[in-house]
Amino acid sequence: MLRVEDLRLSFGGVRALDGLGFEAAPGEIVSLIGPNGAGKTSAFNCVTGFYRPTGGRVLVDGTDVTGRRPSAIAALGVSRTFQSPRLFRELSVLDNVRSGTHLWLRQNVFDALLHTPRFKRGEREATDEAHRWLDFVGLRGDRAGLVRQLPYGEQRRVEIARALARRPRLLLLDEPAAGLNHGEKAELLDLLRRIRDLGAAVALIEHDMGLVMEVSQRVVVLNFGRGIADGPPGAVRRDPAVIEAYLGRDADEAELAAAREEVRGAGTD
Ligand SMILES: Nc1ncnc2c1ncn2[C@@H]1O[C@H](COP(=O)(O)OP(=O)(O)O)[C@@H](O)[C@H]1O
Ligand SMILES: [Mg+2]
Repeated sequence: MLRVEDLRLSFGGVRALDGLGFEAAPGEIVSLIGPNGAGKTSAFNCVTGFYRPTGGRVLVDGTDVTGRRPSAIAALGVSRTFQSPRLFRELSVLDNVRSGTHLWLRQNVFDALLHTPRFKRGEREATDEAHRWLDFVGLRGDRAGLVRQLPYGEQRRVEIARALARRPRLLLLDEPAAGLNHGEKAELLDLLRRIRDLGAAVALIEHDMGLVMEVSQRVVVLNFGRGIADGPPGAVRRDPAVIEAYLGRDADEAELAAAREEVRGAGTD
């Protein structure tokens, strides 16, 4: 569903991406991990058209979308969430999620202006579907109220529901567990599995190693804009290059041993 080839991106002198490649298949969760500044979000921005890469290719279901606009890429079934939630703060919870349905709901200006039966049917369909996705993500709280009045963890759920309302074939989630408490993380783990079971290809950026190791079919490790490891969680966890990347070359032996323990101990085999 997604193939990224030799992706390059520079900001002035900074090489955010330096020959990154990875793939994501339907029904699979592929996690991107790596230190802060490794290029994970930049990779998502190139895939979704927010950044134009300076080299390499992005293929969505075989179509070369490199350098296309975000709306054109979204129309191919690509949907994302952001590192900090970007919701319509002055809209209700329900309307935020309804906004995700406009991609597949076919309505024209004529129907909308005249409130034709087709328009009303479409509106009802959008509302029903938004409720279904809010049920799916397990939203607690008032759906008619403003989204900004929800607690942070619930806002993150709304953002995922909106992304799902677009009926994506490829879903990119940028640090969905950031800022969540322990219980919310456990619920997120379950939600990620249910999203995968819908058959979408899921690319996940996440710092919580336990979550990554538990939920991913494959893990891609980034450092300085390139992939330094790519494989099943068990193999990546034991990769010395991965452990070193998390601490840097200057780490002393005691620190390295501690990092090894942390990376190995994460998740279960
Ligand atoms: N819009 C931008 N302008 C300038 N530099 C950027 C921009 N976006 C990202 N970078 C730089 O690219 C590198 C990778 O950043 P990012 O992709 O956000 O990393 P990560 O998500 O892995 O923490 C960093 O050095 C960051 O400062
Ligand atoms: Mg990031």
